[in-house]
Amino acid sequence: MSGKSKRSKSSSRWLQRQQRDYFVRQAHAKGHVSRAHYKLLQIDQKYRLIKAQSRVLELGAAPGGWTNYLEDKVSKGLLIAVDPLAITAGARTVVIQGLAGDREVDEQITAALENRPLDLVLSDMAPNISGIRAVDQARTMDLADVALQACHRWMKPGGALALKAFQGDGLDAWVNGLRKVFAKAVLTKPKASRPDSREVFVVAQGYKASESRG
Ligand SMILES: C[S@@+](CC[C@H](N)C(=O)[O-])C[C@H]1O[C@@H](n2cnc3c(N)ncnc32)[C@H](O)[C@@H]1O
Repeated sequence: MSGKSKRSKSSSRWLQRQQRDYFVRQAHAKGHVSRAHYKLLQIDQKYRLIKAQSRVLELGAAPGGWTNYLEDKVSKGLLIAVDPLAITAGARTVVIQGLAGDREVDEQITAALENRPLDLVLSDMAPNISGIRAVDQARTMDLADVALQACHRWMKPGGALALKAFQGDGLDAWVNGLRKVFAKAVLTKPKASRPDSREVFVVAQGYKASESRG
């Protein structure tokens, strides 16, 4: 079979799965940017992470499914959304176009915070998939570290972190490490996350004061 027909078979399978998918249909029907909206909704319902006055840093925000959910909830706080790709966001959201972890992006986040800390860091960042599982897992864990660094840099004691990860090498050890800097850290899989995917979410609450701020 040629590469092209293999690709078109797998993209038509993807299309069929999208059409069957309950959360994709719900997202279309309700006018949400993407099904990702429901993942955050379900995580928030379970862990009560987002409040009207929350100050939130959202990493990996494009195309804007989570941003859209956050904008409805964070009516009195601050929302900073970061991604190199275009984000559909409202006027109150501080959109930063760039890669989390880059110095210029860090400077823009620091400026937007105006010397007041964050309550919550969210990351749905995902690397460009190479198809080589070990490489993709290592890249995903690097992105998890970028989100954790954001906590060390800007989070207030008691704050929370929720991020996307993939079951695989290094994740359990990473979550164990997280338990030293947060009162609690768990893995969770919202119903809206496809059951056949290795995707899971890490939720950590009760950030302990950082000694490495700077
Ligand atoms: C699964 S998508 C996010 C979906 C989004 N949460 C939504 O609800 O629409 C993953 C995103 O991570 C972004 N990303 C990957 N590496 C990043 C980085 N270092 N900084 C910021 N965003 C990054 C990608 O550009 C991509 O848009």
